[in-house]
Amino acid sequence: MTLRTKSAGISVSATADALMRAAADRFVTAAAAIDLSDRFVVVLAGGSTPKGTYQLLATPAYASRVDWSRVHVFWSDERCLPPTDAASNFQMAHTALLAHVSLPAANIHRIRGEDVPGAAATTYEDEMRSTFATPTGPPRSTPGARFDLVLLGMGDNGHTASLFPGLAAVRESERWAMAEYVAEASMWRVTLTPVILNAAVEVVFLVSGSEKAATLQHVVEGPYRCDVLPAQAISASNGCVTWLVDEAAAANLKRSRTHG
Ligand code: 6PG
Repeated sequence: MTLRTKSAGISVSATADALMRAAADRFVTAAAAIDLSDRFVVVLAGGSTPKGTYQLLATPAYASRVDWSRVHVFWSDERCLPPTDAASNFQMAHTALLAHVSLPAANIHRIRGEDVPGAAATTYEDEMRSTFATPTGPPRSTPGARFDLVLLGMGDNGHTASLFPGLAAVRESERWAMAEYVAEASMWRVTLTPVILNAAVEVVFLVSGSEKAATLQHVVEGPYRCDVLPAQAISASNGCVTWLVDEAAAANLKRSRTHG
């Protein structure tokens, strides 16, 4: 079932498992970009919600539908700790998906969480700019010069990636990646900024669970206040934003609901 909001589509799945399947289907559909630009450049979300989707994508039924040799993976953000740490977003995606599909090592663009945060952010921006052949200036909308798909989660405080309430990265207008200390997580994080995220062909949020219901309603139906609800800063200026959510997370949405 799909609801349209003023700026994005919302697709509501009955259960968390159905949401994982819907996200995996979306990934496979978006990977058809390979036919156009000979590669598929995707941003993986961190946190726990996408893990089920990544595990599904690693199953033969899904993995066989993607030409992994031409897929490039990036991350929306990373906790500043070693890639072997259980809390690393890289580690989660590697265990759930990347260790099980034939992605060339050179196509795995990991944020170096073990480095000094500022240096890791600079290195990551250089890697994105090199991948998209955009050495300076804003992202280009030329096919192949921007992310084909960005997967994002949303915290119950309205953060996404590591764009947390009140942080400078939420309103950044030039840099594609930034490092900031996140007090509420008691750690440094490296995050992509809305500058590069909003240039994507397609942004898909994955939101599951009743604990997100109040925040989801404020983010998608409430007034724009991105400093308080940073997920609102994601708008895909030359693409589309879709919210893939389950019924539990959608419980507070006020728009008319149609089943189908
Ligand atoms: C991170 C993520 C973050 C995550 C949200 C939702 O590093 O934590 O990038 O933005 O997507 O916090 O996390 P859950 O999916 O675990 O609820």
